[in-house]
Amino acid sequence: MTTRIIGTGSYVPDQIVTNDDLAKIVETSDEWIRSRTGIGERRIATADSTSDMAAKAAQAALDQAGVRAEEIDLILLGTSSPDHCFPNGACEIQAHIGAVNAACFDISAACTGYVFALNTAHAFISTGMYRTALVIGADVLSKLVDWGDRGTCVLFGDGAGATVVRADERGILGMNMHSEGAKGGVLTCGSRSNGNFLLGKKPELGYMSMDGQEVFKFAVKKVPECITEVLASTGTPKEDITYFVIHQANYRIIESIAKRMKIDPARFPVNMEHYGNTSAASVPILLDEMNREGKFKPGDKIVLSGFGGGLTWGATLLEW
Ligand code: COA
Repeated sequence: MTTRIIGTGSYVPDQIVTNDDLAKIVETSDEWIRSRTGIGERRIATADSTSDMAAKAAQAALDQAGVRAEEIDLILLGTSSPDHCFPNGACEIQAHIGAVNAACFDISAACTGYVFALNTAHAFISTGMYRTALVIGADVLSKLVDWGDRGTCVLFGDGAGATVVRADERGILGMNMHSEGAKGGVLTCGSRSNGNFLLGKKPELGYMSMDGQEVFKFAVKKVPECITEVLASTGTPKEDITYFVIHQANYRIIESIAKRMKIDPARFPVNMEHYGNTSAASVPILLDEMNREGKFKPGDKIVLSGFGGGLTWGATLLEW
């Protein structure tokens, strides 16, 4: 018995912010952003919270799967930008959709959040503990970036993607998850400084900070490694893979990964032009778009891979 994706859904806010719009608030240009990242525009949440967006994506996935909310045993939300420290975001989604029978918790693994959450759901389902789970990636990083820092604010967008997964004969074939905490400083966000009556100050929430070149080098090294690992662990040749659905941080990162792995870049679908880097949401949003366009056939082998703050990275190989 393994774990199969039986429904997908996604949601992005209506508000589009183009590169030209950003050039009005920081010193940048459409040409710089497009040529360095492949990003043309992103969605920015003005009314929706992280759990609002996640619940809309989750409901779309449930509708597609034909599964009632009460049938869900487990809700896992990959996010770095929950609405509160507690209740956790997954509990808030539970309340939105009425999944009264689910155990709910968040997975904090930055942009790798969805892949870690999917692999965690698979671990629970494989033991027989749970049968049906909602696995969601959602982030509103627009509330955590410094809108005066052109090195980071141009990269990110807000959104949510969700999948319903269930115990089945066909589905996930292999997975891995990796972390390197010692390198965490190259990509940090939302640090909370101490603040209390003894210190005589209130706690402060820090913005995102990033060493872009180090993150770039990390991604192009570690993603090929974890994909190679998941293929080797299942004896699957790379030629058998129909699509490599990789975290949508940057077109140049994906191009470099394809080149290093000697795989045609056409098998690495991209959509960051329209959404930017939506962090934990990027893999499930792309999965949902491709699924709704009818790109996946039963039996197709698909690799999912994420990378991000932590540092964290990992991969999942599944048969559609
Ligand atoms: N517009 C215009 N110029 C910018 C800019 C922007 N938005 N952001 C940075 N610059 C400037 C820098 O200040 C620097 O100027 P200088 O040479 O006068 O000092 C110059 O552009 C080059 O900066 P650099 O950081 O070397 O650019 P780069 O080619 O490494 O590209 C990134 C920067 C961020 C696009 C690239 O490093 C990257 O994509 N890294 C991965 C980031 C990522 O994906 N993070 C999320 C992972 S989950």
